[in-house]
Amino acid sequence: MTDDTSAPDLTKGVSLRSFDSSGLMLGRVGEDEVVLARSGDDLFAVGAHCTHYHGPLAEGLIVGDTLRCPWHHACFSLRTGEALHAPALDPIACWRVERQGDTVYVREKLPETAQATGKSTPDRDTPSSVVIVGGGAAGLAAAEMLRRRGYEGRITMLSADDSPPPDRPNLSKDYLAGNAQEDWIPLRPPDYYEQQKIELRLASRVTSLDLKARQVHLDGGEAITFETLLLATGADPVRLTIPGADSPSVLYLRSFADSNAIIEKTKDSKHAVVIGGSFIGLEVSASLRARGIAVDVVAPENVPLERVLGTEVGRFIQRLHEEHGVVFHLGQTVTAIKNRQLTLSGGQTLEADFIVVGIGVRPAVGLAEQAGLTLDRGISVNEYLETSAPGVFAAGDVARWPDPHTNQAIRVEHFVVAERLGQVAARNMLGRKERFDAVPFFWSQHYDIVINYVGHAERWDEVRIDGSLDKHDCSGTYKEGGRTLAVATIGRDRQSLEAEAKMESENASGVSGRPGR
Ligand SMILES: Cc1cc2nc3c(=O)[nH]c(=O)nc-3n(C[C@H](O)[C@H](O)[C@H](O)COP(=O)(O)OP(=O)(O)OC[C@H]3O[C@@H](n4cnc5c(N)ncnc54)[C@H](O)[C@@H]3O)c2cc1C
Ligand code: FES
Repeated sequence: MTDDTSAPDLTKGVSLRSFDSSGLMLGRVGEDEVVLARSGDDLFAVGAHCTHYHGPLAEGLIVGDTLRCPWHHACFSLRTGEALHAPALDPIACWRVERQGDTVYVREKLPETAQATGKSTPDRDTPSSVVIVGGGAAGLAAAEMLRRRGYEGRITMLSADDSPPPDRPNLSKDYLAGNAQEDWIPLRPPDYYEQQKIELRLASRVTSLDLKARQVHLDGGEAITFETLLLATGADPVRLTIPGADSPSVLYLRSFADSNAIIEKTKDSKHAVVIGGSFIGLEVSASLRARGIAVDVVAPENVPLERVLGTEVGRFIQRLHEEHGVVFHLGQTVTAIKNRQLTLSGGQTLEADFIVVGIGVRPAVGLAEQAGLTLDRGISVNEYLETSAPGVFAAGDVARWPDPHTNQAIRVEHFVVAERLGQVAARNMLGRKERFDAVPFFWSQHYDIVINYVGHAERWDEVRIDGSLDKHDCSGTYKEGGRTLAVATIGRDRQSLEAEAKMESENASGVSGRPGR
């Protein structure tokens, strides 16, 4: 729906000459906002809002016959509207386009095609049953893709969480800050699982995996048989091991319940200490500041996020938090917690009503290890995301896959990547043999600043900053041996999409080499 009367009425026709270089034009058809897209000689009309967080698709990027969302890089087919790559899971609407000479008319809305609505037929003989261990981003995206590709067999999703797959990134951002409603957190509404015949079993921890019998065992002793298995067990927060670490005022953040526990603490608190200058630690700090809580951050590094974003961007993030009242104690660790008092390695003490720990996560490899699957700082998978055991796949934070861009086996902790791994694993479970070659992408939000990051750079020998960090309009390019490994942007969403598209085309053309596994 639109109230933007300045947007042209596309039913009345627009000149082909009125497209700018993006090939995208925002207009309207009746009450609907519609994007007219021109890719070479082809013209398409699709809904103007991304089905993830309603990102403005007219500000996105056309790549071939796909349209990419500027906010978190969802990828839609311009031909069918299908949400080809996460984080969007639902399609966008399509309209019929007619060209008369140099004028383009948008006609009636098209019925949802089979592909866009997920009713395509499976690629080949399919497994009789799929068990997914993990009720998070990767697990849900896999289950959704199995059904979208027409899989009709039994899907059982086992989750140790007590709530359905959540929008986990929101738990440290708008939800924790008090700007997002509780019912925005589940990635799918409660009736979705029943409708899609996905047997979601919450509070169901898998305690062992028997590859010979092809069974998983739950903590209550029940055994569930599978033909194909997906391990999407994510990662667990690293726990503090210092004296006092088991105090009830020490909190971690991974699940919806964790986020609610922090919110509960804020109700009668004035002062928090965040241990760890990680993305999660800093996002929590921003959200606590939004709730009026005083925040001290204690972290061992001298510049927060320096290891991922470099010194200059790290210092900028530090300044941003300081401008919002956060006090940093850098180059230090917490050595003990007693009652409300924390002792730092430098000898200083801090008082806190509660403490949030964000010192990193470890991939949840316990089941895979016990079953004897090949591990490599995560579960090792091949380019089709299959583990060392045939018919057993892994996806999400737990999986380390051969990345064609860096020519290394990598494991990342990014929401969009977890979902995309789940989607590709699902198609491969149906016999597809699709190589996972997505370019890693993540975003992080601090107050009103969003950082978008594409690629993967564990180390680099050159960082080039273009534009102005202080004006929130810049990009950082991370290179090694002259080759771009990653690009971080603030306020330059289209540049981020362009960088991603360039890395994708390098992957496709083999410029970046092939993994040596
Ligand atoms: C607070 C927070 C904020 C984040 N913000 C961002 C962000 O801004 N951008 C970004 O890109 N990424 C972000 N991330 C990271 C992102 O959420 C993860 O990369 C993503 O959720 C990983 O998905 P996953 O499916 O691999 O794991 P998860 O979503 O963690 O799901 C794992 C699931 O496995 C279950 N499980 C584990 N072991 C067992 C077992 N033995 N039996 C049964 N179930 C089991 C768990 O209960 C859980 O349901 C954030 C993470 C957190 C915690
Ligand atoms: S709003 Fe489009 S990907 Fe998030």
